[in-house]
Amino acid sequence: MKLKVLIIGGTGYIGKRLVKASLEQGHDTYVLQRSDIGLHVEKVQMLLSFKKQGARLLIGSFDNHRSLVEAVKQVDIVICTISARMGDAMEQGRAIFDEKMVVRKAIEDAGIPFTYVSANCFAGIFVGGLCQVGRFIPSWESVVLYGDGNRKAVFMDEDDVAAYTIRTIDDPRTVNKTVYLRPPANILSQREVVGIWEKLIGKELKKSSLSEQDILNIMKEKDLAEQGVWSHCYHFFYQGCLANFEVEDDAEEAFLLYPDIKYTKMEDYLKQYI
Ligand SMILES: NC(=O)c1ccc[n+]([C@@H]2O[C@H](COP(=O)([O-])OP(=O)(O)OC[C@H]3O[C@@H](n4cnc5c(N)ncnc54)[C@H](OP(=O)(O)O)[C@@H]3O)[C@@H](O)[C@H]2O)c1
Repeated sequence: MKLKVLIIGGTGYIGKRLVKASLEQGHDTYVLQRSDIGLHVEKVQMLLSFKKQGARLLIGSFDNHRSLVEAVKQVDIVICTISARMGDAMEQGRAIFDEKMVVRKAIEDAGIPFTYVSANCFAGIFVGGLCQVGRFIPSWESVVLYGDGNRKAVFMDEDDVAAYTIRTIDDPRTVNKTVYLRPPANILSQREVVGIWEKLIGKELKKSSLSEQDILNIMKEKDLAEQGVWSHCYHFFYQGCLANFEVEDDAEEAFLLYPDIKYTKMEDYLKQYI
């Protein structure tokens, strides 16, 4: 079914892929253009390129209620690039999730049908750097493991996140549910990610390790924004919070709903870096 889809955050890292996927899957695609976009000429160019590809731009912002209402009125579906399963996150990293929860509660209180897409670790941010904070390119020499490196997390190619998300929008099976993106082949430990890379480059990396206490000490020395990043890592790679639970009965797994989507496995993702 062809729908009118508004993407909020369409100029962002994940949002731009959602715009592309929505257009590719044949929907009338609208992108919220912030009136206060400022001096970000590359974002203006990106918005113009969306327009060229057939998207419509709607001026608005989360900070301007009326503009948001006007934009939302024009469409059938709104995709907002926010979501979380971190209710018990440490204080340093939870501010971002608390804000998201306010939005979720407002949606549910208003009785608006929703689908939460739980996207897990974006591969470009996590797999490229072999899960190390602040690294986006894999080393050919060494890697620092979190503890023993054996806690499982879930890694997703960002284009697959977008493709699955757009598939949910006209699917009655996903209404008022959480859809987890966790295809089995992409549930991996950091050590397994490193092992895939080592196999690809035909070389074993030198390994060192950060204990749980090391990471807590590092966090103390960082500013608040960086503490947030480290705290996410702590929960993912020491506590295993992304993979240590069963998907609830009332939730869905995207790879089961859409078996026709051939998701990217991390071996193929890492080949890009060679
Ligand atoms: N799972 C993961 O591995 C992972 C990794 C990173 C992020 N995330 C999550 O993914 C989500 C999106 O992150 P991202 O990296 O794509 O973000 P991003 O690149 O920083 O983009 C943020 C987007 O939100 C828009 N925006 C910001 N404030 C807004 C407002 N007041 N009103 C309307 N639009 C506003 C920005 O518009 P402008 O371009 O106009 O500023 C931009 O399009 C976040 O919830 C983040 O927590 C997940």
